[in-house]
Amino acid sequence: MANILVTGGAGYIGAHTVRALLARGDHAVIYDTLATSKAETIGKLEREGAVTFVQGDISDTARLDQVFATHPIDAVIHFAAWKNAGESMLKPAKYFENNVAGTNRLLDSIQRAGVRRIVFSGSCSVYGTPARLPVDESFPLGPESVYAHTKLMCEQVMDWFDRRHSVRYVSLRYFNAAGASADGLIGEEPAQSANLIPVVMEATLGRRPKIQVFGDDYPTPDGTCIRDYIHVSDLADAHVRALDFMAREDRSDIVNVGTGEGTSVKQIIDVTERVSRRTVPAEIVGRRAGDPVAIYADNTKARTVLGWAPQYGLEAIIAHAWNWHKSIG
Ligand code: WQD
Repeated sequence: MANILVTGGAGYIGAHTVRALLARGDHAVIYDTLATSKAETIGKLEREGAVTFVQGDISDTARLDQVFATHPIDAVIHFAAWKNAGESMLKPAKYFENNVAGTNRLLDSIQRAGVRRIVFSGSCSVYGTPARLPVDESFPLGPESVYAHTKLMCEQVMDWFDRRHSVRYVSLRYFNAAGASADGLIGEEPAQSANLIPVVMEATLGRRPKIQVFGDDYPTPDGTCIRDYIHVSDLADAHVRALDFMAREDRSDIVNVGTGEGTSVKQIIDVTERVSRRTVPAEIVGRRAGDPVAIYADNTKARTVLGWAPQYGLEAIIAHAWNWHKSIG
């Protein structure tokens, strides 16, 4: 049994990853401010296995040092960050302070505690608008938002902690995380997300007037943007495999985590109508600034380096999301 410190472990992807750790007998020390997540989620996870909850901020070095002094931490999975790309363009200082300076303070505590492995919540948004598809990890980096730039900067900071202190890292560059646990226990809180699928679910359930489709005049088959939607449980599995990879090979790496399939906004709406047997109230509006036309992953490295493969397809993503959003009404 390993002791894993999970920052942001009460959040959407964090909680699904904690469940995956508990399922294999690991002990999760969840470190979370609960600023954008719920204590209720901690209670659900505590009923699943060995969980210790510490409420704290990654910038609170004294509190972090205390956690490392109290618990024999074997590795860290780091989710805690602000993640709204749109907000980041209005409040850059908030994002650089928490996401980059906070990660630096976390790494300093990790290094001084003698912990030598961290899995990082990276983002495909570091690629910006790719010149061709699918995207692999060798592609040029071109972050187009402050949020995306903070994710790139964190990778660069971790690289120096590897070079100077042998703190190994795996940065998992997520594509579009979506869906909910198959058993409906946990999922994404709609209040914390303006992402497409939660918005479509809430509109279909009548909790918001309609889904605004940000442009249907793109050079794609149906005119709407294309993304790579990855089930949150598949994403969680990639984190566990990244821990095992570092234990096996004692080195760092950067890995795309996506299905390799591109899906358009209209296709998401069509599948939701089929799964829910309801009409999705939608209207076409203007394009959203900063939206790449299309991006989806080349996930060869995740398969070869981590031994990972997605288990869920689009129908399951939509079905599990629909089941979850119906349950929280
Ligand atoms: C998806 C598509 C929108 C809302 C996300 C995360 C980002 C990163 C990558 C991890 C786009 C369209 C959306 C709506 C719409 N993941 N849309 N109406 O922008 O691809 O980025 O995945 O780091 O953090 O945010 O996700 O869900 O906002 O948009 O038409 O009301 O849906 O234009 O084409 P995005 P998204």
